[in-house]
Amino acid sequence: MVLPRRLKAPAPTWQRDVDVVVLGSGAAGLSAALAVRPVRSVLVVTKGILEAGSTQWAQGGLAGVLDPADSTENHVRDTLVAGAGLCDEDVVRQLVDEAPTTIRYLMRLGAAFDPSHDDVPRPGLDIDIALTREGGHSHDRIVHSGGDRSGAEVQRTLDQSAVGAGVEVMNHTFALDLVVGRAPDGSPQVGGVRVARLDEDGAVQSVGTITARAVVIACGGYGQVFASTSNPPAVTGDGVALALRAGLPIRDAEFVQFHPTVLWRGPGARGQQALVSEAVRGEGAILYDAAGERIMQGIHPQEDLAPRDVVSAAISARMALAPAGVDDHVYLDATHMGERFAERFPSIFAACREIGLDPATERIPVAPAAHYSCGGITADLNGTTTLPGLFAVGEVSSTGVHGANRLASNSLTESIVAGTRVGRDLAWELPVPARIAPEKVSSGADVLFDPDRLREVSTAMSRHVGVVRDATGLASAMSTLGTLSRATNGGVEPSRDSWEATNLLTIASAVVSAALERTESRGCHRRSDHPGTEPAWLRHLEVVLDPSGAVDVRPAPASV
Ligand code: SIN
Repeated sequence: MVLPRRLKAPAPTWQRDVDVVVLGSGAAGLSAALAVRPVRSVLVVTKGILEAGSTQWAQGGLAGVLDPADSTENHVRDTLVAGAGLCDEDVVRQLVDEAPTTIRYLMRLGAAFDPSHDDVPRPGLDIDIALTREGGHSHDRIVHSGGDRSGAEVQRTLDQSAVGAGVEVMNHTFALDLVVGRAPDGSPQVGGVRVARLDEDGAVQSVGTITARAVVIACGGYGQVFASTSNPPAVTGDGVALALRAGLPIRDAEFVQFHPTVLWRGPGARGQQALVSEAVRGEGAILYDAAGERIMQGIHPQEDLAPRDVVSAAISARMALAPAGVDDHVYLDATHMGERFAERFPSIFAACREIGLDPATERIPVAPAAHYSCGGITADLNGTTTLPGLFAVGEVSSTGVHGANRLASNSLTESIVAGTRVGRDLAWELPVPARIAPEKVSSGADVLFDPDRLREVSTAMSRHVGVVRDATGLASAMSTLGTLSRATNGGVEPSRDSWEATNLLTIASAVVSAALERTESRGCHRRSDHPGTEPAWLRHLEVVLDPSGAVDVRPAPASV
């Protein structure tokens, strides 16, 4: 299979120069921009508007040890257990240590987290804040806002702070490819990014080059590569695909986390599905199959609050048995909350009402859906990648925090820790300028994938590369993608749709290649033909595009 090494686009007609360009406007990108802004010029590039990404939709909240009865050791242990052997313990410790400061920092910026319930006394807790629990956590340590509108509050806070601090935002601007120049010693160094300004319908208005001393990728994950996902439509893996095209390795691509419970709205629902937060189970809700049998009892000591990969796998296994003839959803019973449900989970309540359901009195139909990309561009928690001048933060990166399965609500925390760290580092010191050669004329290999055929990609991914995989299904997905990759052609015109489609095809190929290679089950990569977790597989894989655009999977080096 051969994939484009460059996105086809009209020739650049304009140029800008800034110190730092940030691609993406969620929690990670805005945290970076905010931290660097006091001393550097910074431009945030986003293909839609500030709030179009995943941050806005996060329900659960931010994990961090605030309760004196909890400890960083507990949080570290829970993260390592969820990560199924592939976390980097040192990086996890850095995250967990900085998480409480990060939460207090957001509060100082104006984030309104929900105050404590009077019925849960927490001796020694010095702020009035509610703490809840989600899957895999041994203690209440998730802060939330507006009940289940935590991400929206984080996004609002960062939007306001960044814009107030004078961060410039370029809306409706698509990041196409990195501009890779030379460091003084002649080695490759990123010197900017080629972008396209779009109109509101995604048609190209102009193409330009933004030169910068540092490019920070914060474009989020790639949930839209699957037919059913909790991610909004904008989450098309643009940052990961751009990095692949620049020759960077993508680590842990096979570890796609499926959230156990999105609202099931009927057979064949596609695209973004309403999330039913794990915090609902944190408040005591129980999973049942259609025959009324409990699902999680006897599966894991934490039962309904087991780590997410365990719950998703158990639901999938139960659906495969088709209890009471139902093979595509199960039920979540939160009726014990009664009228309190609407107050604690207003967004989920509204989504349920839209399908005519009252969670105070009825069980909620739910099913797993793609939710989070645990892998990504190999980076450390300061965003440093293998290519000088290029940084990656948030879901787009693979820092070692999540391993084979992310612990719930660690991701917003990671985005703000890593974003703030990279912004602060770049405020202190910028890379030396890269020398950029005049743009070479394209080789002609820059063909695009037809967006009208994207459905074939997401259908194959959901059918064969979902919660449970096997060699036959993965080979079938690979063959579909191979056929579709030959359907990239010079006749497809550049537009937001065709660039996103090309990015998604690229990422699908990376995920399937890594999933085929990993012949074991670990974390959120489950193979029915290799059900055991194998000590020999206690290692990372990385995917690269070779110079011809072929996908290559290889063992990842131990660290960045
Ligand atoms: C949820 O609210 O269940 C999602 C939280 C997360 O993905 O961390």
